[in-house]
Amino acid sequence: MRKNYLATAALAAGSVLASQAVANAAELNLICSADVVICELLVETFEAQHDIDVSMVRLSSGEAYAKVRAEARNPKTDIWWGGTGDPHLQAAADGLTMSYKSPMLDELLPWAVKQAESADYKTVGVYSGALGWGYNKEVLAGKGIEPPKCWADLLNPALKGEIQVANPNSSGTAYTALATLVQLMGEDEAFEFLKKMNDNVSQYTKSGSAPVKAAARGETGIGIVFMHDAVSQAVEGFPVGVVAPCEGTGYEIGSMSIVERARNVEEAKTWYDWVLKPDVQSLLKEAKSFQIPSNASAEVPEEAPSLDEVKLIDYDFTTYGSSEKRKALLERWDREVGAIAN
Ligand code: G6P
Repeated sequence: MRKNYLATAALAAGSVLASQAVANAAELNLICSADVVICELLVETFEAQHDIDVSMVRLSSGEAYAKVRAEARNPKTDIWWGGTGDPHLQAAADGLTMSYKSPMLDELLPWAVKQAESADYKTVGVYSGALGWGYNKEVLAGKGIEPPKCWADLLNPALKGEIQVANPNSSGTAYTALATLVQLMGEDEAFEFLKKMNDNVSQYTKSGSAPVKAAARGETGIGIVFMHDAVSQAVEGFPVGVVAPCEGTGYEIGSMSIVERARNVEEAKTWYDWVLKPDVQSLLKEAKSFQIPSNASAEVPEEAPSLDEVKLIDYDFTTYGSSEKRKALLERWDREVGAIAN
């Protein structure tokens, strides 16, 4: 009897331990704001190397910011990897993300560290890339249109219905385009430009790289995107030409942030330190994601557009990543461009 009792008690204790083990299985809730192929490759590789289950959702940068903001009182997300830096900086300024000094910081290029320093280490640079556009060579040639070389060329009436760009509310790419034009031309002139360009825009997509995927398939002539996203389509074999605008252009510092009061903060730090390693950043190339990695020893894909050959503006991340500026520009875009969008 006693023996039986002990056996039953041991069994019961065993199953309590087992169920605790299930309950305690390390987990990590990740928002990934880069291309889904690199997001999935990173998750798969991380899970193979760690005893941590990752639950990943792919969201564009502006949507990710909105989710982190909406969850502020009760965060479901632990870490946010990738996507343009501006909404990461805004989240930092809003107190939505946590200060963390990774031991990997010493290995990063100056622009990635500067991004961290400017936000009290509440975010960090993981990759960079310049803005431009991709065009379908066959579509434009078929219509006898010269490929546009400059922002000004995008107003050519012959391009009516041939341009796609994302909506800057959801997409960090499109917000980078908006902030770039404001820095190049001045705010009023930039909005005049965008209202005129609207005549040529067939669609404002949700995700930043969708326009050049549409251009690659001949659904539109031009997609305004990061140049590396246009290169990816060309590397896939589509007839896509890549342009760095002649007047100059902006760029992104793709970033990463740990959510303030994250439930799985240790796991988030494990991901953070791991994803900044050179061999992990070299996975970008494998996923045909041709940004410039932030670790100085990571392999820079030869396909990555060289920033030295692009006329870059001195993009003011502090101003255009601030809550007031981003909010004000997006509201004005809704009023003046979104309202007349086709
Ligand atoms: C693509 C690019 C990334 C960029 C991201 C922003 O995935 O390859 O470099 O950070 O777009 O996405 P979004 O949808 O917010 O414009």
